[in-house]
Amino acid sequence: MSTPQAENITMSAGGRYSLATAGARDVIDGATKLVVRAIGEVPVAAVDGVFTMSDMGCADGGTSLGMVRTAIGAVRERFGRAAVKVVYADQPRNDFNALARIVHGLGGFDGYLEEFDGVFPLFSATSFYRAIVPPGGLHLGFSATAMHWLSGKPGDLAAHVHAVGAVGDEREKFAAQARADWQTILLRRAEELAPGGQLVLVVFCMDERGRYLGNTGGVNMFARFNALWRGFVEEGAVTEGEYRAMTLPQFYRTVEEFRAPFEGEGAAARAGLELLEMETRVVPCPFAADFKMHGDADKFATAYIPTLRTWSESVFYGALSTARAGGERRAIVDNFYRAYGDEVRNHPDGHAMDYVHAYMRIRKTR
Ligand SMILES: C[S@@+](CC[C@H](N)C(=O)[O-])C[C@H]1O[C@@H](n2cnc3c(N)ncnc32)[C@H](O)[C@@H]1O
Repeated sequence: MSTPQAENITMSAGGRYSLATAGARDVIDGATKLVVRAIGEVPVAAVDGVFTMSDMGCADGGTSLGMVRTAIGAVRERFGRAAVKVVYADQPRNDFNALARIVHGLGGFDGYLEEFDGVFPLFSATSFYRAIVPPGGLHLGFSATAMHWLSGKPGDLAAHVHAVGAVGDEREKFAAQARADWQTILLRRAEELAPGGQLVLVVFCMDERGRYLGNTGGVNMFARFNALWRGFVEEGAVTEGEYRAMTLPQFYRTVEEFRAPFEGEGAAARAGLELLEMETRVVPCPFAADFKMHGDADKFATAYIPTLRTWSESVFYGALSTARAGGERRAIVDNFYRAYGDEVRNHPDGHAMDYVHAYMRIRKTR
């Protein structure tokens, strides 16, 4: 059986992901207190000489270095000399060379391995839709900004690139896929977790006020993505079929959707998972915050566009027909981000990719 995963999802390679995503690091740093609390509640008896943690959907690993450093410190405090296995997991198309370099201190980031003895980073190309570690072997499962990627695309949208712009049956198909995928993610973790083990999951969401990534009151980022690509269709630069294939295989769940499997006879509850805490948070776009300070629209656009590009480019590029010469596909994608950059340069106010997440802490009760 092949690993279930949506096609064409890769973050920018060569360590560029972490260089361009200071905001994602802020999101993880904001989860560190939850991680420390989780480690503090893992029963001492559950850890027999080895503490295993995972970072699911870690990309190049650069954004979680600080969180992992703090987690190892907390493990040492609670479990003494226990060895620590850090299982970095992402899907097979991820740039694992960049990940290995960054974790081993060769990627220009401040690593943690020199600070501790008995820490063992391991690299897994197994999707979080499957079990990543053997049954009962996980003490802390962590994931940030990854579980909004669905296991597959339930269909192409006719009039938008993202489910946030879908309506009716089209939206319901995405919602149903997201429900099924959330259940799968939780059930696989329930198998992995040792009794008393915990999860800290930080997942993009649609918050209680209807806000989501890049839509927090100013310019709606996905609406701009869509309008720009529609413009490319109208100019004849891309075909209607290519435009439809640009649908991102993502969904932003609500807190009710996150909570449902834990309630009553829900699948997570039956598998022994308890939702200990959940809150939504908005983490401001660092590039928009910088712009407020320096006021230079060109500098803002130059810094801002790469952060959108890191996670969206592979899907847009993959949607362009392979009958086009390789260089042509690249040129179209370059033109798209150039056009977005020009919009930001000309009318910078209101542009921001604020992050909107649900922060959850979950325990395996038995
Ligand atoms: C935006 S990056 C987040 C990276 C990092 N966790 C952070 O917060 O900065 C999302 C990551 O999720 C990964 N991903 C998407 N679907 C996945 C799956 N089914 N299993 C594992 N990783 C997946 C992508 O490959 C990508 O590296």
